[in-house]
Amino acid sequence: MNESPLDELLDFARTTARMAGDLLKKRASRGFRVEHKGAVDLVTEVDRHSEQAIVEAIRSAYPNHSVLAEEGTIRAESSALRWIVDPLDGTTNYSHGYPCYAVSLALERQGRIDLGVVYDPLRDELFEARRGGGAHLNGRPLSVSSTDRLTDSLLATGFPYDIRTSPENNLDHFARFALRAQGIRRDGSAALDLCYLAAGRFDGFWEMKLSPWDVAAGALLVAEAGGRLSDFAGGPFRIDDRQVIASNGRIHEQMITILQQTE
Ligand code: IPD
Ligand code: CA
Ligand code: CA
Repeated sequence: MNESPLDELLDFARTTARMAGDLLKKRASRGFRVEHKGAVDLVTEVDRHSEQAIVEAIRSAYPNHSVLAEEGTIRAESSALRWIVDPLDGTTNYSHGYPCYAVSLALERQGRIDLGVVYDPLRDELFEARRGGGAHLNGRPLSVSSTDRLTDSLLATGFPYDIRTSPENNLDHFARFALRAQGIRRDGSAALDLCYLAAGRFDGFWEMKLSPWDVAAGALLVAEAGGRLSDFAGGPFRIDDRQVIASNGRIHEQMITILQQTE
């Protein structure tokens, strides 16, 4: 990279994710406005404040970097580097006081994610990955689990915000996996789901209709922790794909088989 070295960028991402995570944590107890983007799709004023704080930090440290952030910031600048930002992943949880949410920051260069940081302020867990440099949690190296049978696996998933109106709502897949896996969790933060997979806490994850900011950082964590990512048919995964399977690799084919069933 002929701009700032990756170490410096990773350090910036850590500091910025911690700053935004602390803001989320402080604001959680103070009351905040909640608006509906759709029937079950919420946004709080804290999502927006977190995004403003992150975007301002990027603008002041790296004025020529581009930004794609969930609550509407799209900056196209001269640099080949673009920050992909979810200022609060887990908004439904946050607005109900359910303690599971995070900040997700990824740095993309020409379609490839070079680094990712996900910060959970409630547990003070900072997940990070650097392409080719492994995945870490609070400085400790991470690797995916070694579970090789679906029946012994703990899986994670989520449901799309159009669940009430679209037949592609994941309920069919969920029902099939519920009968085959040891357990399934729907924690409400895709970024943390992927980091937990990287940490070996989950063995597999699938979801549909996610956005780049939900998965950009977490997918790099999974890959760098030795996991596998694909679409539902086993084809290559890209962050703007509408389908993702992430797993420890060993149960991947078993997950594809379930996701290909139609009866
Ligand atoms: C959501 C969470 C959730 C997933 C949703 C996402 P948000 O992000 O990651 O786990 O199931 O599809 O949109 O809206 O809380 O940032
Ligand atoms: Ca999200
Ligand atoms: Ca969000």
